Amino acid sequence: MSISWRVITFLLLLILLQLETSRAIWFPWYFHRYGFQPHSSRHSGAVNVAPDGGPGKGSKSNKGGSATCPPGYELKGSKSHSASGRLCDDNPVVMQLARLYVVSPERIVLLLAQPLLAESCDEIADVLEHIRGATTNCILTEDNIYGKLTNGLRYYKSEVCDGGSESSGNRKRCASLNNAHNCLKELRTDMIECEAPPDWYELRNVTKVCQTFNNVLDCYYTRGAMLCGLEAAKQLRSFAADSMKRAMLQSCEVSKRLPKVNDPMLISATT
Ligand SMILES: *[C@@H]1O[C@H](CO)[C@@H](O)[C@H](O)[C@H]1NC(C)=O
Repeated sequence: MSISWRVITFLLLLILLQLETSRAIWFPWYFHRYGFQPHSSRHSGAVNVAPDGGPGKGSKSNKGGSATCPPGYELKGSKSHSASGRLCDDNPVVMQLARLYVVSPERIVLLLAQPLLAESCDEIADVLEHIRGATTNCILTEDNIYGKLTNGLRYYKSEVCDGGSESSGNRKRCASLNNAHNCLKELRTDMIECEAPPDWYELRNVTKVCQTFNNVLDCYYTRGAMLCGLEAAKQLRSFAADSMKRAMLQSCEVSKRLPKVNDPMLISATT
C-alpha cells in the first residue's frame, strides 16, 4: 500500500518535472508532443507533420518548422544519411522498451528488482528479439537514445540473465546479483528514489551529466549497503555503472571513491 503510494507520488513528481523542463522523454508525453513520427526521420530532415496531440503546444520551440528534434537530438554535423543506409523507424523499438518500462538508463538497473528474475529475463529476451527484428534491415543513428537503451538492455541480458560473459570476468558479479535478488527485490523503492530527473542523461554539459551519473551510482551503493550488505552493494554499483554507461550518449568515468557506509551486517553480528 505505502509502496504503491510512493510510486504514484514519484510518477506525479516526474510529470511535474516534465512540465517544468518540457524536454524529458517520458513516453506518453513524448508521444503527445511529437506524435508517432519516427525519431530517425526527424533526423534526416524529412517532411515534418504536426503531431496529432496538440499542434499549439510544441510549435513554439519548432523554429522554422523543419527542425523538430527535441533538445539533445540535433543532428551532429551534416553527415549524409543516404550513404549509411536506410534509417530505422524507431517507434517499434520504443514500443518494445515500453513493455519493460525501460525509459531511462536507471530503469534497466531497476529490472534487478523485478519479483521473478527468470520470468523477467524471458520477457527481456523477447523484447530484444523483437527489436532485432525491427532493426535488421536498417540502422539507428549513433545518438538515438532508444538504440542506447537497447544496448544497455542487451548488456543486462548477457550479464544477469545469461550468467555473465566469460571474457569480461563478470561471472562472480552475476552470481552475486542473483544471490542477492531476494534482497534487491526489497530495494525497489530505494532504487526508484535514487533515480535522477527524467532528462538528466540528455543534457549537453558532460560534467553535469557525469556528476549525476555518479550520484545515482553512489545512491544505489548506499541504499544497497544498508539493506543488502556491502558485497551486494558493490556488485550493484558495478553493474549499474556498466549497464548505464552503455545506455547513455555521454561517456562518464566511474568515481573510484565509494561512499562511506558502515556494514549493517557486521554491526548486527557484533551486537
Ligand atoms: C557544467 O556543469 C558544471 C557543474 O554543474 C558547471 O560548473 C559548469 O559551469 C557547466 N559548464 C557549462 C559550460 O555550462
